[in-house]
Amino acid sequence: MYQIAKVKSETRGKVHWMALQEADQLVIFGISGDLAKKMTIPSLYRLERRELLKLPILGVAFDAWTEEQFIAHARESVETVEGSVDDAVFTRLADRITYIHGDFTDDALYQEISKQINGKKAPCFYLEIPPGLFVVVAQNLAKADLLHGDARVVFEKPFGTDYDSAKQLNDDLHKIMREDQVFRLDHYLGKDQVQDILYVRFSNTFFEPLWDRHYVDSIMITMAEDFGVEDRGSFYDKVGTLRDVVQNHLLQTLSLVTMEVPTDDFAITRYDLFRTIPSLEPEQVVRGQYEGYQEIKGVAENSDTETFIAAKFKINSLRWSGVPVFIRAGKNMPVKATEVVVRMKMLPPFVINGRLRASRWYDDVVFRLGSKPGLNMAIRVKQPGLDKMEPVELNLDFQQAEGGTPEPYEVLLMGAIHGVRALFPDEGTIEETWRIVQPVIDNPPPVISYKSGTWGPDEAQKMTEKHGGWREPTI
Ligand code: BG6
Repeated sequence: MYQIAKVKSETRGKVHWMALQEADQLVIFGISGDLAKKMTIPSLYRLERRELLKLPILGVAFDAWTEEQFIAHARESVETVEGSVDDAVFTRLADRITYIHGDFTDDALYQEISKQINGKKAPCFYLEIPPGLFVVVAQNLAKADLLHGDARVVFEKPFGTDYDSAKQLNDDLHKIMREDQVFRLDHYLGKDQVQDILYVRFSNTFFEPLWDRHYVDSIMITMAEDFGVEDRGSFYDKVGTLRDVVQNHLLQTLSLVTMEVPTDDFAITRYDLFRTIPSLEPEQVVRGQYEGYQEIKGVAENSDTETFIAAKFKINSLRWSGVPVFIRAGKNMPVKATEVVVRMKMLPPFVINGRLRASRWYDDVVFRLGSKPGLNMAIRVKQPGLDKMEPVELNLDFQQAEGGTPEPYEVLLMGAIHGVRALFPDEGTIEETWRIVQPVIDNPPPVISYKSGTWGPDEAQKMTEKHGGWREPTI
């Protein structure tokens, strides 16, 4: 079962060549939900402000609201997230939205959708609904003849809960639509700062030639959150950190740090990289749970769900063999920060000016992926007036240098509308990432308790000792 998943070559061939035409209608299932309130509606508003929206939007939900009620709700959501509402922009957005409600399993709803979007050749359906309804809705769309030609469907995460369920979901969807119509959303791939890793790596002479086992000692990825599970207890307790952020966000991030240059088709390059990563060994994993987690509403008594994980991965490729990749992620950590550290090997001792010098520090290239995106590295320079070298920090702030960046949901909504598949994991990638984490799902090491505000269990600290230890995030 943990064999490397085979990707149907006929599907991959098509992915490579077929470009969907720009969508002429957006249909959002679950538009009255929490995710839409926090992310989708504010993102649509920002796209409207940037004058990028050109198509009508049909909102579909369970809630029996009138259109006026929905528009009032949308306005409130924009106000909460943005702090204020530009009336002209909001009116433009409201004018393109129609709201209908109904039961997602009822044929009548799909007849109504059909009527509403009559004549559209390339509708984009975005399903931000419970994953248990993905196949049902897709089947109903197909039954109503809405998945023809250039229609596409965007699936909000999670896409499967383990290898088997993800594979089953892929197989079920392929009975209904082509792979090039399936867009699986991972909001990390919509972050400009995450995509930027690839551009920085490949477009700079002082990075590109050094990016391999000859010069890199190790790679460390940290995703730390300084808050707990709070009101998401019942969701989180069934999921845990490995499924919540490692299988998806952090492995996708790792792919951008380590993949070959994707000359054309990201799906193939990403897939090739994941194929070289062996499945995780449970002995190389530390799971933690913060003290007090079990008192949270919705968390099972004696729950052994992890709220922290640290794991050591390998990559068996000519570029990376022998370079360990450490990933850690956790709730209630000392800070909120996500960053990638590419740790370069130390130089051997050498003589300058008659004295033997030995490096005392690793050279780290740090990509900050959180709220202050940027890049950090240190250059060793001679201390003024002394025959000594010390590192001087270079701290690049991408926002200052390049201006504000769009939010991930803006990028991904536009990506789906324009059919940019590079921004979405394909079927092979999804199955490979689940294959990589599956042994830990099957045989999880015991959870070790840790205090909130610390970096998790000591065992996780020890994991990187031979490689200079984890780096404290540079916020
Ligand atoms: C979500 C997880 O997918 O990503 C959350 O379900 C996590 O638990 C969030 O907090 C982190 O996203 P970001 O963009 O804030 O790093």
